Amino acid sequence: MIIGSISENKDIEKRISITPEIAKKYINLGFQVQLIKNYGKHLGFEEKQYTDIGVKFVAEEKELIENSNIIIQMSLLNEESASLLKPNQTLIGILNPYENKIRLDELVKKKINLFSLELLPRITRAQSMDILSSQANLAGYKAVLESFSTFEKAIPMMMTAAGTIPAAKVLVVGAGVAGLQAIATAKRMGAIVFATDVRMASKEQVESLGGKFLTVEGAENLETKGGYAKEASDEFKKKQEDLISETLKKIDIVICTALIPGKKAPLIIKENMLKNLKAGSVIYDLAAVQGGNVAFTEVDKIVDKNGVKIMGEKNILNKLPTSSSSLYAKNVFNFVSNLYDKENKKLHINLEDEIIAQTLIK
Ligand code: NAI
Repeated sequence: MIIGSISENKDIEKRISITPEIAKKYINLGFQVQLIKNYGKHLGFEEKQYTDIGVKFVAEEKELIENSNIIIQMSLLNEESASLLKPNQTLIGILNPYENKIRLDELVKKKINLFSLELLPRITRAQSMDILSSQANLAGYKAVLESFSTFEKAIPMMMTAAGTIPAAKVLVVGAGVAGLQAIATAKRMGAIVFATDVRMASKEQVESLGGKFLTVEGAENLETKGGYAKEASDEFKKKQEDLISETLKKIDIVICTALIPGKKAPLIIKENMLKNLKAGSVIYDLAAVQGGNVAFTEVDKIVDKNGVKIMGEKNILNKLPTSSSSLYAKNVFNFVSNLYDKENKKLHINLEDEIIAQTLIK
């Protein structure tokens, strides 16, 4: 069986799906690996690193797609490349089924096996395949670095002969995977960290990282069976707004990560709340692409509102493409291993396996 991968549109996506380390693992498992010319060159992965372990490079995208039994990408192929897919081929990636529904339905009709990895169940057995966690973890870390480097004061408390600089105070909104890493990173750099979430389970996790959890008084726990957040009631939203508004008065940097799967991101920091932040404060909105947690967030811009800088990017992981590719490639390898019947050397789409059933687009 041949596994192939072509280049992404590098203007928007620098991550790759098959690193040399992972290509070797596919080959050891019995696959052939074919990649498009210059596949990982922009990340410093030279062709020789791949060819030395038996990877074949192909110059033409058409040839590569037609040859491959399984195509592994970061995101859905563009329309021209996808039109080359034939029945029984398998495409694995972050296919964004909410936004790409029409295109994915067409491919399913063509009998292409599509696996969208953001649909993985959050169960223990799927942890090593969990692309949302591996990527969100790095995004949370990088959001802290980006906001701290934009902030024009020092982060840790510094006691010097010339006087004392107080520690910066950080608020993390949404303590899921990205938020927890943001808390850990901000703490390591010497900030005082506050955090809030609608899931009560996150309180203990925030506290174990040294953060102070802000509990919305009398709130019910808004957690689904799958571990995700539910949309909050108007009453909850009002209480949360009051709590965050009051907290913002003492905060220097806000990292927003609040998401609800398949929905627009909740608007948490509204226009009237921004005035509670001092000029010079910075907000990094990791939910920018999903509509933003903050009024005025604009993708790939730094918006200045009375001296408060609001930042958000389309793809923050383009600033950490090597680390994020390394983890993504490993996640996908673990997913493919689970899908592969080693004895019969073919894919086994076993719908009794919830990992396979939930990621398969039907
Ligand atoms: P996510 O990216 O969908 O959302 C980020 C965070 O925003 C979540 O913690 C969510 O509760 C919070 N949020 C949503 N609306 C909010 C609001 N209005 N105000 C404040 N916070 C709000 O979530 P993520 O990071 O993907 O984590 C989802 C769950 O999956 C968590 O329970 C996490 O612990 C769990 N998980 C479980 C794994 C496992 O293998 N068992 C692996 C990874 C995550």
